[in-house]
Amino acid sequence: MTEERPLLQINETFPGTEVAAETAAALAAASIVFRRGDPSYSTLLLKHSESLFSFADGFKGSYSINIPQVQPYYNSSGYTDELLWAAVWLYHATGKDSYLQYATVKHRKSFADWGRSTWFSWDEKLAGTQVLLSRTSFLNEDGVYTIEQTEGLQKYRESTELMVCNFLPDSPTASDSRTKEGLLWIQENGSLQHSVSASFITLLFSDYMKTSKTDSIKCHDKDFTSEDIRRFAKSQADYILGNNSMQLSYLVGYTEDYPKQVHHRGASIPADVKTGCKGFKWFTSEEPNPNVAVGALVGGPFKNDSYIDFRNNSMQAEPKTYNTAALVGLLSGLVHPLLLMPDF
Ligand SMILES: *[C@@H]1O[C@H](CO)[C@@H](O)[C@H](O)[C@H]1NC(C)=O
Ligand SMILES: *[C@@H]1O[C@H](CO)[C@@H](O)[C@H](O)[C@H]1NC(C)=O
Ligand SMILES: *[C@@H]1O[C@H](CO)[C@@H](O)[C@H](O)[C@H]1NC(C)=O
Ligand SMILES: *[C@@H]1O[C@H](CO)[C@@H](O)[C@H](O)[C@H]1NC(C)=O
Ligand SMILES: *[C@@H]1O[C@H](CO)[C@@H](O)[C@H](O)[C@H]1NC(C)=O
Ligand SMILES: *[C@@H]1O[C@H](CO)[C@@H](O)[C@H](O)[C@H]1NC(C)=O
Repeated sequence: MTEERPLLQINETFPGTEVAAETAAALAAASIVFRRGDPSYSTLLLKHSESLFSFADGFKGSYSINIPQVQPYYNSSGYTDELLWAAVWLYHATGKDSYLQYATVKHRKSFADWGRSTWFSWDEKLAGTQVLLSRTSFLNEDGVYTIEQTEGLQKYRESTELMVCNFLPDSPTASDSRTKEGLLWIQENGSLQHSVSASFITLLFSDYMKTSKTDSIKCHDKDFTSEDIRRFAKSQADYILGNNSMQLSYLVGYTEDYPKQVHHRGASIPADVKTGCKGFKWFTSEEPNPNVAVGALVGGPFKNDSYIDFRNNSMQAEPKTYNTAALVGLLSGLVHPLLLMPDF
């Protein structure tokens, strides 16, 4: 792409807490990945993560209020979830008590919003925070916590269970936000985001149960085992890969039947042509894309389990990093139950 791609900045006068905290979370998570293989890189990641977090926490302001031109695309509903998310990843990466304190005690009233079942999305990280902290209460039995921290961890875990119960179709508290064929479904634009990310974190939760030998959780008066929860996550993946009445795989390149007009410049414009950013001839073409965006997950079906394979149907046909990445997590978890790394 040769057109201008201007960068926007956040700073102390125009802070963007969501962006700074989400980046801090990503760097902290990455520091865990590289801890063994490249310890000095891991240390560098952690250093920048901690300084970004203190910038995010010290200069609070919503990025989409301070940089309003992003509002038509990715308008944030608030930054308190990103701050908790970053603090909890930093707690996992450093083991520092101050980060646990931040999430479980200091901001328990204002940010944690216990007891509200949430969804996991690019805008809403609270669900991920809950799952990451339930990991601590399931697996870190030897941890030494204050009474308030223990209570906070317990509340996060209870909130996670409420959320999981909301996702399970046979739970007495099952959400009715799902299609007739059983896919969790919240919104028309990029509908798979919610089902994929919910299934991914639910699968992690079921692995924590299994690893900690927790037999079951209670949804109202009904018990669900880790296997029940895993089965639910698999049902969502099955639907996405073609177990649906359209017999369509929403994962591009998987089987013969997948969307052929994915809304994606690299896939719809032949290689090596010079468009000058005016590729409408290819945008309006009725032919299948010349290039197959193998591994992209498109936006997803309507509430009535149908899909219209037109390139201009962006809300269904546009692949997103934030649903494709979560699908990688979901499929990996289905292939291999959680491998418990000793230092994480
Ligand atoms: C701070 O960020 C705002 C918004 O991106 C920008 O307009 C402004 O020039 C920046 N300030 C400095 C001192 O760079
Ligand atoms: C973005 O969200 C803010 C705060 O919730 C709201 O005031 C604004 O109208 C929204 N903008 C758009 C374009 O939806
Ligand atoms: C989904 O898979 C199940 C089990 O393999 C099968 O019985 C069912 O007919 C499939 N449903 C659709 C809509 O493909
Ligand atoms: C979208 O694309 C389809 C198929 O190419 C075409 O029939 C339809 O008119 C287009 N819709 C709009 C709003 O351009
Ligand atoms: C399914 O819902 C979409 C969006 O509401 C609508 O455009 C489409 O016609 C419906 N398809 C069927 C088969 O009912
Ligand atoms: C759907 O959301 C994307 C950003 O996630 C935006 O670019 C697109 O315009 C939206 N489409 C519709 C039809 O709302």
